[in-house]
Amino acid sequence: MSSLIDPYGRKIDYLRISVTDKCDFRCTYCMDEDVTFLPRNQILTLEEIVKVAKTFIAMGTKRIRITGGEPLVRKNLLWALEQISKQPGLEELTITTNGSQLYKMAESLLNVGVSRINISLDTLKADRFYALTRRDKFQQVIDGIEKAASLDFKKLKINSVMLKHHNDDELQNLAQFALDRQMDISFIEEMPLGVITDHDRAAAYLSSDEVIERLETNFSLTESQHISSGPTRYYDVAGYRGRIGVISPHSHNFCDTCNRIRLTAEGRLLLCLGNEHSKDLKPFLRAPQQAMSLEQGIIDALALKPLKHHFNLEEAPQILRFMSATGG
Ligand code: GTP
Ligand code: 5AD
Ligand code: SF4
Repeated sequence: MSSLIDPYGRKIDYLRISVTDKCDFRCTYCMDEDVTFLPRNQILTLEEIVKVAKTFIAMGTKRIRITGGEPLVRKNLLWALEQISKQPGLEELTITTNGSQLYKMAESLLNVGVSRINISLDTLKADRFYALTRRDKFQQVIDGIEKAASLDFKKLKINSVMLKHHNDDELQNLAQFALDRQMDISFIEEMPLGVITDHDRAAAYLSSDEVIERLETNFSLTESQHISSGPTRYYDVAGYRGRIGVISPHSHNFCDTCNRIRLTAEGRLLLCLGNEHSKDLKPFLRAPQQAMSLEQGIIDALALKPLKHHFNLEEAPQILRFMSATGG
């Protein structure tokens, strides 16, 4: 079947699937300590997730990234990953994780066909890790990263959300940590999703330009010629295989090259992270007698994809859901 094109002519060949809204961390920029997770019957079953993934692949999706919450806390996830990765037409299956389960799961992830892993790590200090994630699992995450680095993944990437006066003094160290392990690293401008009480987002804003300027005092950076098909703008680093990237939702809008949509854990197809345009796919999965097919539901949903996100740090968040509800 032909590939999916949105109303602005963008080819959508990348699907992010959130397999759970649950997480074993409580990152301050992502969720409250007393967050309420969705009831089980509202969450898609793994069979339903596999069905949606297979349908997307048949419609031209080339890359699927599994997200959460924390995807690796979902029971029997490996079974679903294996079903998805062996589907003809899929070029890569990737996952974004907080790393807490990586030590014990990295090998199995490789075996079921996951080729790239993105791992969140905002600090290299154990006490600060606790302050940022509200969980005492720093060493567990580091062990997981080292384990993954020892295996034959095509690429590993560290994601660091940069917050001024919280962790920006670690920019160089985080970059060095990733580069020493031949990993990429993305420094991310925090997005105003959900209402947080821990810090003032405008005061903690650190622009990607400042990130790059500061890193240039230690590293020799040149803009990568290899065009990335995601929001990250990459720089090559002299002397290293890994790259330094920036994700700049505020300072460098990347929506014109958007290639992606998201399936939320409850089965909503979310057309843009920074908007609420979505279509519930659950009725197509749970009431299959209805006239319209899942394929038609997906085509109709795509027509709702907006042109761009409108994040504004000076206003109260326009998007009240947290990142964990939709997988980033
Ligand atoms: P690739 O699959 O390699 O392109 O990875 P990625 O960097 O896009 O994905 P990852 O899950 O590592 O996410 C890193 C950061 O990018 C997170 O903060 C995401 O929320 C953000 N991000 C990913 N896609 C989008 C997008 O379409 N819009 C916005 N605003 N942010 C995004
Ligand atoms: N802004 C930017 N990035 C965020 N993440 C979670 N919440 C936010 C936010 N509000 C990041 C995590 C993880 C990725 C999936 O999204 O740190 O690396
Ligand atoms: Fe969990 Fe990731 Fe959100 Fe942190 S950013 S609380 S690890 S979902």
